[in-house]
Amino acid sequence: MMFVIYSSQREIISNNCFLYSPFSIEHSLFEKLTFMKRNNFLLITALAISVVACNNNEENKKETKQEMKTGIVKSDWGTTDGKQVYLFTLTNKNGAQVKISNYGGTITSWIMPDKNGKTSSIVLGFDSLSGYLAKPPYFGATIGRYGNRIANGKFKIGNNEYTLATNNGKNALHGGLKGFDKVVWDASPTTDSVAALTLNYLSKDGEEGYPGNLKVSVAFSLSDDDELMIEYNAETDKPTPVNLTNHSYFNLTGDVSNTILDHVLMIDADHYTPVDSTLIPTGEIKAVKGTPFDFTKPEKIGARIDQVPGGYDHNFVLNKKDGPLQLVATLSDSLSGRKLEVYTMQPGLQFYSGNFLNGTFKTNDSKPIIKHDAMCLETQHFPNSPNQPEFPSTILKPGEKYHSVTKYKVSVQ
Ligand code: BGC
Repeated sequence: MMFVIYSSQREIISNNCFLYSPFSIEHSLFEKLTFMKRNNFLLITALAISVVACNNNEENKKETKQEMKTGIVKSDWGTTDGKQVYLFTLTNKNGAQVKISNYGGTITSWIMPDKNGKTSSIVLGFDSLSGYLAKPPYFGATIGRYGNRIANGKFKIGNNEYTLATNNGKNALHGGLKGFDKVVWDASPTTDSVAALTLNYLSKDGEEGYPGNLKVSVAFSLSDDDELMIEYNAETDKPTPVNLTNHSYFNLTGDVSNTILDHVLMIDADHYTPVDSTLIPTGEIKAVKGTPFDFTKPEKIGARIDQVPGGYDHNFVLNKKDGPLQLVATLSDSLSGRKLEVYTMQPGLQFYSGNFLNGTFKTNDSKPIIKHDAMCLETQHFPNSPNQPEFPSTILKPGEKYHSVTKYKVSVQ
């Protein structure tokens, strides 16, 4: 079932029965009154239909107040864990569309035109919930409580040692066996001037081994300038590591028949964190100069990837200073003419060149998704920070507020 909650006039209507009402949201009050005088009979009949429709929609009323949002359509998308899953479609005035599910806080598609006006999704994702229940490698998901790896699934805070669920060899990856990508979030479309959606989740004390009840909210909004903003907020009642990110896989051509090796990447980072054989940072902060990790000037991803065993899967130490949102990376593709800009408040960026994609998962049009078909630019604190005192701290304490914003902006040239 689909609920239309689009309201470009930002008019508050008491529930979704407006779908059946003769009062179109485009009409001003004056127009409505004129309409009423001229069409009394029609009006009464239509209102009667509205009332019946509304009564039949009793169950939907609960959703209704939160549904009054500019540029959002909410659809039922199935159930899991005994909870209702929705798919929200955010549309801006250019017709760009981002779909987000409250399952895993997952961005399932981002539809944009290319330089010829042809539209396609620039991120990997599935049309149905079942695709995600089959556990793809975090396509589009919100990642938490801790993005990337924690060595041996262990860390200490003060004298307390914690043991996490391990799900990547001996390490803990992206929150564990059931991270934030595999839970159903509470969803509330908001009423700002742009299409926006807020997801909330309470991660309980001990979940996947992490200490403290962590209240998390992630707000997504799509601006009329084709910017997707993701704002993360969290609070805890015990000290705990927190590292939240989004795991969208980009292929700016919108078609996995083209790999990302011809995409041109710039990362504003003079250093990166080398890793061991299990992809845990060694602790060294190494200069990129003279190495295949130097993306300080735009470079084709494929140009030097052969010199990086396995491909890129590294944390870049951003040059930006802590604090406000800053441009840290650009990605462009000449085939489509699309360009992506990444802005963050975080100190790190994981550039993952889709090395482990092996054909297990297929696109909606049945193309197997293989190595280098898509890539991630994950804004983050450094992997394994809880065990690396030299890295910026990821420990959130009671009374503190975790706040971080990432912006992805797409343009067509
Ligand atoms: C990690 C990769 C991992 C991928 C999918 C990335 O963030 O750095 O090592 O394979 O996520 O899980």
